[in-house]
Amino acid sequence: MLLFGLAITFGFGAAPGHATVSDAPEPPPHPGFTDVGPASPFSTEISWLVDQGVTTGWQTAAGTYEFRPKNLLSREAMAVFLYRLATQHGVQSAVSYTPPDQAAFGDVPVSHPFFTEISWLSATGIAQGWGDGTFRPREQISREATAAFAYRFAAHTGALGTTGPASQLFQDVPKSHGFYTQITWMAQRGITTGYTAPHGCLKFRPRSQVTREATAAFLYRLINGGVKPVSPDCSPPPPKPPAPVKPDCRKVKCVALTFDDGPGPHTTRLLDTLAAQKVPATFFLVGQKVGSYPGVVKRMATDGHEIGNHSWDHSSLPHLSDAQIRSQVSRTDTAIKNATGRAPALLRPPYGNRNTRVDRVVGKPLILWDVDTRDWEHLSPSRTISTTLATARKGSIVLMHDVHPTTVDAVPKLIKELRAKGFTFVTVTDLFAPTKLNPGRAYYRTG
Ligand code: NI
Repeated sequence: MLLFGLAITFGFGAAPGHATVSDAPEPPPHPGFTDVGPASPFSTEISWLVDQGVTTGWQTAAGTYEFRPKNLLSREAMAVFLYRLATQHGVQSAVSYTPPDQAAFGDVPVSHPFFTEISWLSATGIAQGWGDGTFRPREQISREATAAFAYRFAAHTGALGTTGPASQLFQDVPKSHGFYTQITWMAQRGITTGYTAPHGCLKFRPRSQVTREATAAFLYRLINGGVKPVSPDCSPPPPKPPAPVKPDCRKVKCVALTFDDGPGPHTTRLLDTLAAQKVPATFFLVGQKVGSYPGVVKRMATDGHEIGNHSWDHSSLPHLSDAQIRSQVSRTDTAIKNATGRAPALLRPPYGNRNTRVDRVVGKPLILWDVDTRDWEHLSPSRTISTTLATARKGSIVLMHDVHPTTVDAVPKLIKELRAKGFTFVTVTDLFAPTKLNPGRAYYRTG
């Protein structure tokens, strides 16, 4: 037999809905619905609904039972679900409910199979009828209406608790929404989790219709406690600042500050200075040091600096075999990629030592310099500054070493003085842009 349209049966203990396997050693993992397997995301909630005596599903002609989890829920089914839950949980208004003699709704006569449940729902104020005097029992329920039902049910049974957060939870449920309180309450109680939307935000989809399995989950969480409440922050993401327009170094007086032989113990202080002054720089890193400062190297990249390869152990490359050169380059590439997610495009040969074989084997553009501060030799901040100011021109590449604290000391004033002379700071790649740098070629000052 096919039960009348609904997943409800009456009377406790009759339990007609179990398609049992008599010789099974363990009870089945779900009540025997042929369309609710153990893998169903809501099998626990649906089984619980059966245990509560709320539903037994539809019996098919073959004698098995179906829950029809993807079917949409009707208003009369919701009435029955809530009435039976209230009865099960000893809610006095339901346990001792006597339906009226006369029908309150034109389309729910006394003879209606769910007259009692619908009348109770109306009497408690959990659901009202429509303005035209109908209840529209077969109408399907939206998710926002489910929120209203659940909220009023909880209020009626004294289980309301908190009444919704101050901040908006769902992108599509602003504070002006007619069911804002009910929907946010449902989310705060962990009864609904909503749907993931862009920007880590959530949507509730209030006008979507609710399925039977979703109803099982809502009711289960309403009675048994919810899942983890959704994050109470759905403020729109801050607008992204526009990407800074890169200077055209063919026209602008650009200079590239480069720092070799790091990372080292003074590099973070240098990064702080560069960040404060909004100056991009280029770092040529010694591969074997990268693993000791992965966070510093990562910060170089995220701060917008360019990172280049300065060999693995600062060997003079012309003294090495092809295979040794390749190893110096690739080990350093890997170390930098591990720290930043990206292998460097450029290489600076240690000591500037190179020849045509080195250029070819390295397989990257080789970046040299025209301003040699000799900061490693004199260790004098003032000489680093004066040498640079005396020799820097439009398109210059300045060689410094951030492994020396005296060099890091020089940088704030150096930046100030270069700015005063009209220089704009860029990375090496931006210094040459739009010219693309070619592997195996050496590059000095432009312009
Ligand atoms: Ni070096």
